[in-house]
Amino acid sequence: MSKPLSTLLRREQVAFLMRDKRAWGDHLDRVRAFLGEGLQAADPARPVLILGAGSGLEVPWDLAPRDTTGWDADPWSRGWTALRHHRWAPWVFDDLTGGLADLEAAARRAVAEPWSGHRRDRDTAAKRLAGLLPSLHPDPAPLRAWIAARRPGTILVANVLGQFGVVAERLVETAFGGAPWLSDPERVDLLAEALEAWTGRAVRAFLGALPASGSDLWLVHDRAVVFSGEALDLGPWEHDWARHLCSEGPSVDASDALAGVDVLPILARHGLEVTRKERWIWPLAPGQRHLVEALALRRMG
Ligand SMILES: C[S@@+](CC[C@H](N)C(=O)[O-])C[C@H]1O[C@@H](n2cnc3c(N)ncnc32)[C@H](O)[C@@H]1O
Repeated sequence: MSKPLSTLLRREQVAFLMRDKRAWGDHLDRVRAFLGEGLQAADPARPVLILGAGSGLEVPWDLAPRDTTGWDADPWSRGWTALRHHRWAPWVFDDLTGGLADLEAAARRAVAEPWSGHRRDRDTAAKRLAGLLPSLHPDPAPLRAWIAARRPGTILVANVLGQFGVVAERLVETAFGGAPWLSDPERVDLLAEALEAWTGRAVRAFLGALPASGSDLWLVHDRAVVFSGEALDLGPWEHDWARHLCSEGPSVDASDALAGVDVLPILARHGLEVTRKERWIWPLAPGQRHLVEALALRRMG
């Protein structure tokens, strides 16, 4: 992993940990209970894998079987986890999308002429990158190789799926030396659209890699980010997250954290059935509430 990429992930983690967590109590209780249930239900005779393990804020490592491996590309994540949980777990620091290095290289090629180093103006560079992105197909090869070699019985996906798009955006902004997104809602932002499509491919490829070992899956992720400030609640379960949200206002200003990818149909295709599904609202910061989705699945029969 390149130095700028690991620095970026470390900074994101620091920013996450520095946030005011006073309103996080309900989220932390629910996410720890959900992931804790996954760890307790795990077959201790088979390896367990925790993806997006981070600093262990959301992961009750004391419930993790002995052969549990953490996976997070933030170079400090394992140390933070050791400080928090007094456990020096085996760890993998690879990129879970398998595509960030190519994305970073494409962004650099778009921003500056490779032959002269001359920086292109922002519009030209943005158009160039928007044109390059469709040829990039993130492939989580290290994850697939790990799963094939170790055959985990349980995989926890601990709030990392919704980060793929965020990290991709930060990476592009770093290469451009600032946000290249168009602020005029009347204009089509080709780069933003192309990056959203890249994120969708990354999410789909990642989900497609998980079921290979026949493991039970416990996934927690941001399903949506809500920016408007009206009172929000959840009605009876609806598969479509936008219909699950109830608000007092005429419409909710929310963005899809998974680039429009529907998680369950992808996993169901691999013969997995849902054993738990829940959603809750996490007030992450003023003006930013996340709709969190927790899904547990196991192989049918
Ligand atoms: C919201 S945090 C999850 C926090 C974590 N579950 C905990 O208990 O502390 C997202 C984590 O995903 C990691 N991450 C984001 N994108 C990643 C990627 N492409 N590959 C590997 N890890 C990634 C970040 O480093 C961060 O630790």
